[in-house]
Amino acid sequence: MRDLTESNVTEAVLDKIADDTNPRLKEIMTALIRHTHDFVREVNLSSDELLYAARFIQNVGQISDDKREEGVLLGDVLGITALCEILGDRVRVGATESSLLGPFYREGAPAREMGADISHGDETGEPAYIHGKVVDSDGNPIEGVILDLWQTTPNMFYEAQVGQPDPYEDYAYRAKFKTGADGRYWFLSRKPVDYPVPTDGPVGLILDGTGRHSWRPAHLHYLVYKDGYQTIQTELFNSDSQYLDSDAVFGVKQSLVVPYTLNDDPAEAARHGFTGPFYEGHYDFVMKDDASVVDAEKAYSQRASMSS
Ligand SMILES: [Fe+2]
Repeated sequence: MRDLTESNVTEAVLDKIADDTNPRLKEIMTALIRHTHDFVREVNLSSDELLYAARFIQNVGQISDDKREEGVLLGDVLGITALCEILGDRVRVGATESSLLGPFYREGAPAREMGADISHGDETGEPAYIHGKVVDSDGNPIEGVILDLWQTTPNMFYEAQVGQPDPYEDYAYRAKFKTGADGRYWFLSRKPVDYPVPTDGPVGLILDGTGRHSWRPAHLHYLVYKDGYQTIQTELFNSDSQYLDSDAVFGVKQSLVVPYTLNDDPAEAARHGFTGPFYEGHYDFVMKDDASVVDAEKAYSQRASMSS
């Protein structure tokens, strides 16, 4: 029997991985073990600190439910989610860039008629008309694309979020729209507002302990999908937000920043059903078809193997 030492304990653990382990699982577990062992060596982690970390992870799970995903938020504030998105976008060059799903996505948003008011008649906040189209790499409109979108209410909480101070209808500020032959989409809402991520859980300890603020720049979340095309998971950010350069979860990319222009034309307002000036936001989504992405993946792996 060989005593474990600082230098051989990592190999001892790696040797336990069975030869017939799923190759991808083996790749991930091998790297995970190597990197976490190196991390422990680098910071000289104490047993007390390891116990604290274990309880931290337990708390992440205990505070989570179907309306709060603290584990997602943890990955977000550590920039891990942003890094995954950046890596994924390498094979979708030319498509609308990705951004975080975030911890507040809810499946089952209702399908709405194009042009619907996703605020369900909310009269707080600032009225907004948001529109654009979905096109392919050649600029051709794509029919039958679903835009599954969600944003906070004007009081800085998602409608179902724990702590929401106002009663909102279930799925307010969430909706699905389906493009027609012209690829266009349009709907009414209230202009998105800056909001803080929740800090009353374990993730808040990280932000507080490292001197970070919890604010996110105002944004609208989108999942844009259709069979045969790469799903776009992204966010569009208000260009006038003061937090564009300091998003607590690192989601902002220049290509996703959208100006909201004040429109005070009474006729235009009336056409959209507004009674006064409103903000107008415009964005066109570009989707890549699955075939072009397969080619891009091959191209990337070839480049990677040539440069290594
Ligand atoms: Fe969000």
